[in-house]
Amino acid sequence: MILSFLLAAGLARAYTVTNVDLFMFKNIDPIVWPGQYVSHMHSFFGSDAVNANTSTSAELREGCSTARNPNDFSVYWVPTLYHVNASAAANKTHTPITPMRFSAYYELLNEAEIPFPENFQAVAGNASATSPAGLNSDNGITWFCEGDDAEEGKESAAFPSKTCSTHLQTLILFPDCANPDTFETAYSKNPDWFPAYGENRCPEGMYRIPRLRFSIRYDLRGILPDGWEGEPPLALACGNSFCSHGDFINGWLPEAAEYMLRDPTKSEYFQVEGPLGAGDQGSACTREAVDSDPGHGTSDYEESVVAMQQQTGSAATSVNEGHSAAKH
Ligand SMILES: *[C@@H]1O[C@H](CO)[C@@H](O)[C@H](O)[C@H]1NC(C)=O
Ligand SMILES: *[C@@H]1O[C@H](CO)[C@@H](O)[C@H](O)[C@H]1NC(C)=O
Ligand SMILES: *[C@@H]1O[C@H](CO)[C@@H](O)[C@H](O)[C@H]1NC(C)=O
Ligand SMILES: *[C@@H]1O[C@H](CO)[C@@H](O)[C@H](O)[C@H]1NC(C)=O
Repeated sequence: MILSFLLAAGLARAYTVTNVDLFMFKNIDPIVWPGQYVSHMHSFFGSDAVNANTSTSAELREGCSTARNPNDFSVYWVPTLYHVNASAAANKTHTPITPMRFSAYYELLNEAEIPFPENFQAVAGNASATSPAGLNSDNGITWFCEGDDAEEGKESAAFPSKTCSTHLQTLILFPDCANPDTFETAYSKNPDWFPAYGENRCPEGMYRIPRLRFSIRYDLRGILPDGWEGEPPLALACGNSFCSHGDFINGWLPEAAEYMLRDPTKSEYFQVEGPLGAGDQGSACTREAVDSDPGHGTSDYEESVVAMQQQTGSAATSVNEGHSAAKH
């Protein structure tokens, strides 16, 4: 049993990917600060039905989605990346950077036991981290220059210290074990080394789900034509590169979420089909995706910093450890 599982893991690593366009910058976080407009700035991708209160897949399916897979009404968000102009005259102006490409990979599909549950939500990374000490390596937070040689001695979650020849790229790995009732999540681990883990590599009561991975590419050649040396003039809305994190609320049509597990071709990559079409066909929406709650909150960095002073109580914790509960 274990042998066949390992063979399967080694031979067939089925995955799919959908690219998703950015549609708004906004100071909300329906998972961490539900109902409030006090979050640091986020860049939003996917269903534009999202607002500060969103918690269900059904709500997201009422929106227009920017995902290229027409069956994907999920919403994905990350802290906004800014160019910071430190010149005294510019007063540290923060200019938001729109990614060149945001890709949502769904990996290890042949090992998944259940599709994403309806309303499933997850957070990966630690928005409070300021150094490698605050990070869990399971999150796989990395920043690097796409296609360039790896920088020797660099902390993987630090920004590159030299100009990228093409894109600045970053990765975030989501937990791949979930309890479908409580939405508790964990990262899969080898049961030979982690005794409380079962043959499915998950803690008891949890099932393998597709492993979601964000891959984001930023093209800085326009805003930084001369590149950089040392610390780049960049910041995330939450702080430095180490606070990178990702958030996800499932909005896939259930048929498509199930299709992900079928691996019909047994090839490495396959396109997900569903009631609204297949693969990269494009959004089923005919209007432009927009902020569905334009009367509240802000897309302006300075205003968001002022609004953050109204944060009261503690934010819901990020999913960083083996067994952390989603807020429910
Ligand atoms: C969020 O929920 C609160 C409380 O029910 C409500 O007052 C508010 O209008 C909702 N906001 C949006 C954008 O739906
Ligand atoms: C930074 O701000 C200064 C002063 O406003 C301006 O001259 C300069 O072009 C800005 N640099 C960048 C890279 O935007
Ligand atoms: C920088 O701040 C000073 C003092 O608050 C202000 O007078 C000036 O207009 C600001 N400059 C820019 C480029 O925003
Ligand atoms: C997140 O990082 C902060 C700052 O390093 C640290 O105090 C906190 O324990 C970290 N949280 C988790 C869940 O690891």
